[in-house]
Amino acid sequence: MNARRARVRLAVVVAAPADLAYDPYDEAIDLDPHGIWRRLRDEAPLYYHEQYDFYALSRFADVMTASLDWQTYSSARGTVLELIDTTPPSAVSDDSSDVFGMMIFMDPPGHDDLRRLVSRAFTPRRVAALEDRTRALCARFLDPHRDGHGFDYVEDFAAKIPAMLIGALLGVPAEDQDQLRIWGDLLMRFEPDGISPEKLDAITSLNAYLADMVTDRQRHPRDDMVSDLLAAELTREDGSTRRLGFDEVMAFFTLLQLAGSETTARLLGWGAVLLARHPDQRAKLVATPELVPNAVEELLRYEAPSPIQARFVTRDVEWHGQTVPACSKLALLTGSAGRDERAFADADTFDVERDFDRHLTFGYGVHFCLGASLARLEGRIVLEETLARFPRWDVDETAVEMARTSTVRGPVHVPVTL
Ligand code: HEM
Repeated sequence: MNARRARVRLAVVVAAPADLAYDPYDEAIDLDPHGIWRRLRDEAPLYYHEQYDFYALSRFADVMTASLDWQTYSSARGTVLELIDTTPPSAVSDDSSDVFGMMIFMDPPGHDDLRRLVSRAFTPRRVAALEDRTRALCARFLDPHRDGHGFDYVEDFAAKIPAMLIGALLGVPAEDQDQLRIWGDLLMRFEPDGISPEKLDAITSLNAYLADMVTDRQRHPRDDMVSDLLAAELTREDGSTRRLGFDEVMAFFTLLQLAGSETTARLLGWGAVLLARHPDQRAKLVATPELVPNAVEELLRYEAPSPIQARFVTRDVEWHGQTVPACSKLALLTGSAGRDERAFADADTFDVERDFDRHLTFGYGVHFCLGASLARLEGRIVLEETLARFPRWDVDETAVEMARTSTVRGPVHVPVTL
């Protein structure tokens, strides 16, 4: 039986309760998906969405198991649900795993070679050196509001920081870093009715900018990551070495700029919303700043900025007594995993003192977030600097606006009153 016919048959077998429908593109669900995710975990731990033809795992243990098995759950066709092509490999002329040129969309061994290389450029020295710059940026964007009545915490402050830091690491001049974020946000925007001229323009401008910069560093290397990537040597399986090509450096540059900006901005936005919603927790952080690193982990667990990682299933697999046929799409709901009562006591309680040693919000296995240490540093410093200036604030949650992308979830506008 071919894969497509098998899926049609299974669509009947993997039946969720009639009133349980999880549509990842539904804006109303996206506002608060936790009720539906809880029902998926309890009532349909292997869920199948017939219209969009994808399966979903929502329990912590299942998401972790699948994340570790990259042979079965491949990233080589992308990790964005709507972009994965489910044509069987036999019907694809070239199934080599570098269609996007980005390591996040590759499987080992190609992925590992690139990851090793970029890990060398992404040194602890470079990340640690950003601490002072992060504090200086916080002062620059927060101090003007000290005597004011309020501001947009994300738009006026938090969204700028991650893009400026990753930009600084890569070597983007300070005056251009915010523009790259604006283009990047547009590029990530989910547009169900076709790509808008505004988004197209942003993609073209971003590409042209990055290409100019890579060309410049080819001619004039500096002390930055783009220059490091151009100079780095990749060791092939046979032991020979080669340099990254122009397109490969461009792919890295784009990946790091995008992956490093939007997700972290959403984390910081969640911080402002959740701490206003839980003033008792905020008061604990003001009184005991040493709790801040744990509060960052709790924020990540409680509201995952990147709650869905999609995979292409390479062989028939069993989940909860049902078969997922080869060539299916599978969504790993890391956002749901963070609220799984099977893994976390009182999972729906936001507790900055929670005692836990892991969550899946940075992914798991070979694709574990490369920027996790940077995101953690940003989360910690931004919270410390915010709380030091503003021990209390309110958020009008009716005015909070959420990101409209299919991969990232979190606030883009958070009006705070002081
Ligand atoms: C709160 C902030 C962040 C969150 C929630 C987050 C989340 C994730 C997740 C879930 C993955 C795994 C994707 C998968 O399994 O398909 C990932 C991978 C990745 N992240 Fe992050 N990320 C964050 C910040 C950053 C930052 C600051 C950078 C900056 C460089 C970054 C760069 C990357 C890269 C390059 C990968 C691909 C790693 C690989 O394929 O080996 N991320 N991230």
